[in-house]
Amino acid sequence: MTQLPFVTRIDTANHTLEGADNFSETRLKDMRSLYSYRNSNEDDATLETIVYRVSRKDVPTEPGELLQCITEILPGDYHGEFFMTKGHGHKQRECTEIYLGIAGYGLVLMQNENEFRFEELLPGRAIYIPGGWNHRTVNIDPQQYLLFYSIWPANSGYDYEAVIKNPFQYRVFRDTQGYRFEER
Ligand code: F6R
Ligand code: ZN
Repeated sequence: MTQLPFVTRIDTANHTLEGADNFSETRLKDMRSLYSYRNSNEDDATLETIVYRVSRKDVPTEPGELLQCITEILPGDYHGEFFMTKGHGHKQRECTEIYLGIAGYGLVLMQNENEFRFEELLPGRAIYIPGGWNHRTVNIDPQQYLLFYSIWPANSGYDYEAVIKNPFQYRVFRDTQGYRFEER
């Protein structure tokens, strides 16, 4: 046990986790293959568009410790498909996670083998993602960023291959009604 008590704070003005020590930005070019639209001649400015940012508070990656982060998904879509996270499973499949909505309106897609579920992510709503369920978050408000807090075991690891080998059964598109699912 090397970790001493500490405090973080959700900074709703800056869309970050205060006290975080790890920041990442994911652009369209980093995740284009995850979208349905295929065009090898996409212009550079589009590819540089930031889709989401993560600020994470790191702790030793030992059993018993907990990681926390804030994810901000910007409003937008790529050829109709809403901005979303890459999505992943946990390397330690049994590791669970909780997402707490802070601002905006999103969907959490969850898939365990062939079973698909989704939940709305809204301020104050906490979604429990059991071990073994791959997860991806989608910002379905075309006008506003989506902000949510995550907490999960520090020894979980990220398995991004999991959602390539077993893609989510549904994609989420912008629609006159708000959003619509498309089966792959
Ligand atoms: C951690 C977790 C979230 C995501 C974050 C970005 O286990 O589920 O903190 O890591 O929302 O999404 P990905 O990792 O899919 O790029
Ligand atoms: Zn996760």
